[in-house]
Amino acid sequence: MADMREEAFVSGWLKRMSLRQKIGQMTMAERLAVTPEDVKAHALGAVLSGGGSHPGGNAPADWVAMNDQFWQAAVADADSPGVPILFGIDAVHGHNNVRGATIFPHNIGLGAAGSPQLAAEIARITAKEMRATGLDWNFAPTLAVVGNSQWGRTYESFGCDPQRVAEFGVSYVRALQDEGVMACVKHWAGDGGTQHGMDQGETTLDWEAFEATHVAPYYPALKAGVMSLMVSFNSWNGDKCHGHRFLVTELLKQRLGFEGIVVSDWDGLKYLDDDYGVAVRQCVNAGLDMLMVPEAWREFMDALEAQVRGGHVRMERIDDAVRRILRAKLRQGLFDAPRPAERSGIGAASFGSPAHRQVAKRAVRASLVLLKNRLGLLPLAPSQRLLVAGKNAHNLGHQCGGWTLSWQGENGNATIEGTTIWEGIHAMAPQAELSADLSGAEADPAKHDAALVVIGEKPYAEGFGDIRPGDEVIQDTGSAVRGLINPLGPYGQSLELARTHPEDLACIRRIAATGVPVVALLISGRPLVVNAELDACAAFVAGWLPGSEGQGVAEVLFGQHGFTGRLPLPWPRSANTSGDGAASGEPLFPTGYALAAALVPPPG
Ligand code: GLC
Repeated sequence: MADMREEAFVSGWLKRMSLRQKIGQMTMAERLAVTPEDVKAHALGAVLSGGGSHPGGNAPADWVAMNDQFWQAAVADADSPGVPILFGIDAVHGHNNVRGATIFPHNIGLGAAGSPQLAAEIARITAKEMRATGLDWNFAPTLAVVGNSQWGRTYESFGCDPQRVAEFGVSYVRALQDEGVMACVKHWAGDGGTQHGMDQGETTLDWEAFEATHVAPYYPALKAGVMSLMVSFNSWNGDKCHGHRFLVTELLKQRLGFEGIVVSDWDGLKYLDDDYGVAVRQCVNAGLDMLMVPEAWREFMDALEAQVRGGHVRMERIDDAVRRILRAKLRQGLFDAPRPAERSGIGAASFGSPAHRQVAKRAVRASLVLLKNRLGLLPLAPSQRLLVAGKNAHNLGHQCGGWTLSWQGENGNATIEGTTIWEGIHAMAPQAELSADLSGAEADPAKHDAALVVIGEKPYAEGFGDIRPGDEVIQDTGSAVRGLINPLGPYGQSLELARTHPEDLACIRRIAATGVPVVALLISGRPLVVNAELDACAAFVAGWLPGSEGQGVAEVLFGQHGFTGRLPLPWPRSANTSGDGAASGEPLFPTGYALAAALVPPPG
């Protein structure tokens, strides 16, 4: 509850600010589109780094130097000290934009691990590594409840159960904010429930179902004092969330008493109306407080000023927005904080440290779900002669997935620090052999006791990861241009892995045909239809997007730790390839499933 002292402080600042300065506080620009001088001249409230947008050599020192400049520009002024600035980023599975950071499994893997406590531990480490770079605002956690794994953002969700998502969300928020980083629950509301899993699409539900599924997961985090919330691109029953007065003002602010900042998504206001001024009016009057207008921030400021002077946006609405921004900055301790350069030392020593990577390895181990184990092929023995193949066996970019160093993710091992799945295997089984072209063509029962084939998806983010039959498929999501919010087409045509990546089934069959038994490990952002792959192998593990610590996979495959992960959402049996491509019929494996025998607690 906002107290008298707090409100007096906020009112004191508000009184001293001009309309233009207040509008400046409501404006968030992208780092590439703004200078420290702009921040000073326009009293900008926040700057963000979009996916992959990094300063200099992308080392922590480069980030501290940049944030320091923005900070000094915002506050340092003898006669009229400015309001401290927030710097926001998507650190959604570790501080994933920054080179050398610890990259954790994406949330879908944490959902499989099933431990909100582990998620909190990860949030603490993420906050420490963010503080080491001078950042104080994380656009996380995502509280999406995923209803259709055709959605390209399935992997950003903790799963399909609203109660479980709520538990993960509040744990994550408390941990981030305890470590001095402002959390931002997102995307409000209904992002995971769109028709056909289309990113930014339409969620059609009556209020009871909408609340139970897509609103309720926010309740514990709101009660725990989360200080920011991001509005979703999607619409609910035909009305865009970015202009939804009931969702943002009546429900969130008035009924639920949210005291923090309601922030828009990337140019989210643009979707409301072709007339930019009208769109600004609708968005701000709906109750959004800070607008993420990465490049068009000047246009936004001018448009909002015109709307206020034209009587279309009341001064009370502007003051409510700025009060919330000032209050959040006050609670964040920014008004008393030293420059980023003086406070980044908090996390500098532990940035990407072995201790952090140990936690990431533990998360990888806990996330793996065993779906098949014929002949008791697993656990493997380090003494076995293993052949390792598959496009995702030795590829840090692929095993980390989207939102890693770049928005759409990376390919290969040049930009991310960590261990690939192959390197983890080889460290434990010196006789293991990596297939030269990853095809497994070398398989020979005279030389190999078993094979591990690491299959699955390539990285993607947001709409680029959607699965939609019929649309033109993006050939290389890695070349995506930031800001292309409504992507031209989807990642794939079907939930059937063999249709998008036939090379995986071919690899499994090639090896199995020689008589060498195959363990298949699926690296993907979601469950996929893999009936053919399951039939062709002796054992099958869902690995999700494990992140930088591939070693964790080997520690379970060799039995040092048992399989404990369970499915955080249903596994599809088939997909209707003619219609909308959705999963059809009963799930092959239900939510919560894991091969029973696998769940024997690890020895010792
Ligand atoms: C994106 C995402 C949102 C993210 C924001 C800033 O479009 O929808 O989750 O926080 O832009 O990168």
